[in-house]
Amino acid sequence: MKQQVYMQTYGCQMNERDSEEVLGMLTSQGYEVTQVPDKADLILLNTCSVRENAEDRAYGRMSELSEIKRANPNLVMGMIGCMAKLHQEKIFKQQPYVDLVAGPAELYDLPYLLAELEQKRRKVTKKQKARVMAVGRQFRPVEERPKKHVRTDGVRAFVSIIEGCDKACSYCIVPKTRGQEISRTVEDIVSEVNQLVAEGYKEVTLLGQNVNSYGKRFPDGTGFKGPLGRMQLLENDPESLVDFAQLLRVLQKRTNMPRIRFTTSHPFDANERLFKAIADCPAVCESLHLPVQSGSNTMLRAMKRGYTHEAYLKKIELLRQWVPDVALSTDIIIGYPGETEADFQRTVDLMEAVRYDNAYIFKYSPRPGTDSALKEDDVPTEVKAKRNQLLLALHDRIILEKLQAMVGSEQDVLIEGPARKPNQLFARTRGSFGVILEESDPALIGQFARVKITRTAQHSLFGTRIVDA
Ligand code: 5AD
Ligand code: SF4
Repeated sequence: MKQQVYMQTYGCQMNERDSEEVLGMLTSQGYEVTQVPDKADLILLNTCSVRENAEDRAYGRMSELSEIKRANPNLVMGMIGCMAKLHQEKIFKQQPYVDLVAGPAELYDLPYLLAELEQKRRKVTKKQKARVMAVGRQFRPVEERPKKHVRTDGVRAFVSIIEGCDKACSYCIVPKTRGQEISRTVEDIVSEVNQLVAEGYKEVTLLGQNVNSYGKRFPDGTGFKGPLGRMQLLENDPESLVDFAQLLRVLQKRTNMPRIRFTTSHPFDANERLFKAIADCPAVCESLHLPVQSGSNTMLRAMKRGYTHEAYLKKIELLRQWVPDVALSTDIIIGYPGETEADFQRTVDLMEAVRYDNAYIFKYSPRPGTDSALKEDDVPTEVKAKRNQLLLALHDRIILEKLQAMVGSEQDVLIEGPARKPNQLFARTRGSFGVILEESDPALIGQFARVKITRTAQHSLFGTRIVDA
């Protein structure tokens, strides 16, 4: 029987995509993926260290799973990803059941690390004593990495276009865990997307910590490097500049992927070239994730975000001129050190002004190793909780109004899969709103449909297919 691998992923979509790559690599080496940890020979937790909460959950899960190891000492348990990179020593000291640790840059070495572990285990009588730790290597050029992924969806897929982050937001650990930005080549991305089209995928999400930096640095050292504006002035031919906007146009022209999404866009780098590309490319969904983090200029400066409240709103105004119905989502941090009631109120003002279609609100947690961790985390937990509640309630109100306003409208949706209840299917609009359809035919999954929104219930939209006469 084949070796079984169980993987659990925490954190962002980049991690989900990394997990797909790791599973792709392991299955091509003879492993089989299992959803049942008790059956596994190898358990991997792909961890995240962006927020404290995800770290705590991963530690909690690891101790839960360690029960299985008691019954099966041959089991290999690994902690991989960002948190593994940051806390390698601590993990080895405090988690005796963890046999293997590998950071995001070492994921591609996993088969070697597993072989090394196996060899070590043969030499010692107590298997728990054999452990391997691989942290501290550089990222391999994307081109050298395994191409196979294990994707579970069949309709939608993630494609990585840029690794790492060159920004230095004061609260964020990502530049430390994922290193410098490196863009994948256009040819490589086009060929992966074409492969996905051939396999029947209907939607691709292009991934990067800041997709707007795409093209700044390619693996061979080329790229536009400096600020885009200056570069554009030097260029008379807009097509000669390979930036993110150009990548979208190339994908529109050279692939038949019906839907293209992308995340994340840093507001500082989101520019009119991008907005025009969204407007011009029919496959690119009218949807943008533009994390603002705070509405207070004092906080934005402390966070080193590189824009003001006013500049952010201006960008959105420009975006809406090009893409009038654009769906906007954001990330917000509550209770950054020094955040006063007045600062928080500016975030509330911004939320009311933009009326986001989706918002991820996070309570600030200091991440050791970041600049802001040196500041006192001085907003009391209760205050953070109260502001969080307030903002969530405001966002809830906005969302309910938006959903109500959509009743009676017609939408183009992609039917993604079964909904939670039987005899219902789940679909998504171009703006990323979920729509529940009273349909049960699984053949509809992966199909596009025109639907009429009939009602809302508890944050869900319901719709019926409009069948052509
Ligand atoms: N505390 C709280 N939220 C954070 N984020 C990143 N670092 C922290 C932190 N230290 C949030 C930001 C980012 C999202 C991915 O996670 O809002 O956009
Ligand atoms: Fe972190 Fe800022 Fe980079 Fe986003 S842009 S990954 S918040 S450093």
